[in-house]
Amino acid sequence: MLASPFPVPGRSCPVDYRYGAAALAAPATLRTDSLWIAGGLYGNGFALQRLEEMFGAEPGAAALVFNGDFHWFDVAGALFAEIERGVSRHAATRGNVETEISQSREGAGCGCGYPDWVGDEDVARSNRIIERLRETARRHPEAAARLAALPMVRLAEVGGQRVAIVHGDADSLAGWGFSQEVLATPAGRTAAAAAFGAARVSVFASSHSCLPVLQAFPDAGVIANNGSAGMPNFAGTAHGLATRIALTPHLKAIYRTRVGPLHVEAIPIDYDAVAWREAFLAQWPEGSDAHASYWHRITRGPSYGVERAVRT
Ligand SMILES: [Fe+2]
Repeated sequence: MLASPFPVPGRSCPVDYRYGAAALAAPATLRTDSLWIAGGLYGNGFALQRLEEMFGAEPGAAALVFNGDFHWFDVAGALFAEIERGVSRHAATRGNVETEISQSREGAGCGCGYPDWVGDEDVARSNRIIERLRETARRHPEAAARLAALPMVRLAEVGGQRVAIVHGDADSLAGWGFSQEVLATPAGRTAAAAAFGAARVSVFASSHSCLPVLQAFPDAGVIANNGSAGMPNFAGTAHGLATRIALTPHLKAIYRTRVGPLHVEAIPIDYDAVAWREAFLAQWPEGSDAHASYWHRITRGPSYGVERAVRT
């Protein structure tokens, strides 16, 4: 029997997750005036519904891209199918969650590539959550095939500016280079700044690391990490977040910056939080792995504030 290529499931980053920033220098395949990017829906059907309502009110040419991890808590078959139907109406890229549930390989765990600051218990619970979700995906083979065929990245053009839509960072599907933690360090910002030239973009839209950050780089561009569309992102709040990149500002943006002609904004997705908590508990009651890892955040938000996310 071969040894697992992933010595610590959930910690390591599978080799086939890597694309490298130069691969992002490809031509844009999506052109629009208003681009919405929603990473980390995490199986929240109420956030999906609210997001589609808000996006549907967008005038003119608009596109919505789910940049991965749209599945996660939706282990109930009907909810999994609801997320599949909703996401299929728009563009999507796969995250580590979709990649791992659509493959039969073992040993990568959740594919999260968790860094040191995430505890071993959290990593172990995530690996068990992905096993439950993989069982659900096996009962939807048509969905698994669709997910496996999704691209890891998309290149868009808005107002003549190139935008790279990734799940992790400029190099890898599950990279943490665009996390608020790494971007808080000088070395992290230096590495991230170099990626703009390599990818020939002025905006990176990412997710994966679960906390939002809007990081400006003078003379280079902006990284907009939306945190999570389906979970609270700030202490004491209940809404998710989507990134909007457009030629006009949105009335509900809670923070924004400019890149050339573009407004790069964080839009609150104020889903029905009470209904979502009920749906979550029906799948992940007290004592379950997802409850242990996420219930506090779902009900109270993370210990993180807007003032820490905006770095413009
Ligand atoms: Fe992820």
